[in-house]
Amino acid sequence: MAAVAEYIEARKNDHLSELIEYLRIPSVSTKTEHKPDILRAAEWTAAKLRAAGLESVQVIGTGGHPMVYGEWLKAPGKPTVLFYGHYDVQPAEPLELWTTPAFEPAVRHGNLYGRGTADDKGQVHIHIAAIGALMNTHGRLPINIKVMIEGEEEVGSKNLWGFVTKYRDRLKADALVVSDTQMLAPGVPSVTYGLRGLNYYQVEITGPAQDLHSGVFGGAVPNPITTLAELIARLHHKNGRVSVPGFYHRVAKVSNKERKALNSLPWSLKDFKKTVGAPALTGENGFTPVEQLWTRPTLELNGIWGGYTGEGAKTVIPSIACAKLSTRLVPNQEPARIAKLVERHIRRLLPKTVTCKFELLSSGKPWVAPYNHPYFEAAHRALERGFGKRAVFIREGGSIPFVTQMYDTFKVPCILLGFGLPDENAHAPNEHLNLANYFGGIKSAAYFYEELASL
Ligand code: BES
Ligand code: MN
Ligand code: MN
Repeated sequence: MAAVAEYIEARKNDHLSELIEYLRIPSVSTKTEHKPDILRAAEWTAAKLRAAGLESVQVIGTGGHPMVYGEWLKAPGKPTVLFYGHYDVQPAEPLELWTTPAFEPAVRHGNLYGRGTADDKGQVHIHIAAIGALMNTHGRLPINIKVMIEGEEEVGSKNLWGFVTKYRDRLKADALVVSDTQMLAPGVPSVTYGLRGLNYYQVEITGPAQDLHSGVFGGAVPNPITTLAELIARLHHKNGRVSVPGFYHRVAKVSNKERKALNSLPWSLKDFKKTVGAPALTGENGFTPVEQLWTRPTLELNGIWGGYTGEGAKTVIPSIACAKLSTRLVPNQEPARIAKLVERHIRRLLPKTVTCKFELLSSGKPWVAPYNHPYFEAAHRALERGFGKRAVFIREGGSIPFVTQMYDTFKVPCILLGFGLPDENAHAPNEHLNLANYFGGIKSAAYFYEELASL
């Protein structure tokens, strides 16, 4: 066994208890009441980067939640990578659905449970542990590394691009490395070469100027909930396609070769159905589930509300009804253009009886890239050594807008090594991380940095 792997094997318990400490900090980025926890998580991250041997480690203000930065640049002639991750997490609600509390991590059946285990503190910690292991084994790192861990990923990375622009020269690297994605299946290490983009919208529909007694007014006035429901029902055709005119115009056709490759991956429909837990699946006709999930754009309803939803009955015609919707985007859809098309379509579908406020809350581009750069071979070898199994190249349906921005701006290979699993409940109650993948991830990350040095 490689020296670094022996070091990692011998310190499994230390790594795990350190991760548990990290997870106990409720660094929920969307809630003001958690601002002190966000700052604590940033300081914790910085302290561990220092302990791992990185230099110039700083917690840097951004106007929003701070960025954590550290570097080690003493391997002249060797590649320089920029590692990116996020220390912020999603809210834990609904709390009552957690078997053990979200911020009191617990091990059950080979999994570590807690908010942030898979997305993304567990995966960030994989790299901190790998860097520490390399440093302690060899007294140095095999390559140059810059580490950037942000605190606003789950709220749309509002200050990230300003930060990158400001520190552009400092962040220059030969490759971007990210661990914030998933493996195809248990025991199948994966490199992700494509992500969908995301536009997030909010629609507010107003009928009467104020709530009205439904007995006194019902029958003669517009009900915005009915109008919203009718609108929503018309956003898809029967064949599963989105009804927005022009929505598919620029969608890149996936080559037969790539379709074949994606459809022959060891992806299990049975496992997918089990994870979903619905009576049956649906989707755009003419595409396999893998194609629907990774290569096709969608329009989703994330939430609707309006009127009375409290206990018992209240007769009312509400003034307002709202919906949060989003579109997942694929190459070569342009987020700004899609937002315009969606807004125009919605306004055209609405009757004269209501007014509508349409907002674009966040926007991010899709990403797909070739994986023929030698760094991908290094990643492939490292994953195979770390997991004892051949790695696969996959696309995914989730979104990390930063990856596209970095790819477009710096034109560097982006190596996405995901160690989460699709059924690990990211963003949901009982989020967890498989411990075998966590420890395999630490070894793989260490091997990857070594492999890069020997290219
Ligand atoms: N880590 C996820 C992105 C992800 C999940 C990529 C699964 C691949 C597979 C990230 O933290 C996330 O949740 N992103 C959001 C969008 C973001 C702009 C808030 C998403 O995909 O919904
Ligand atoms: Mn994430
Ligand atoms: Mn997330």
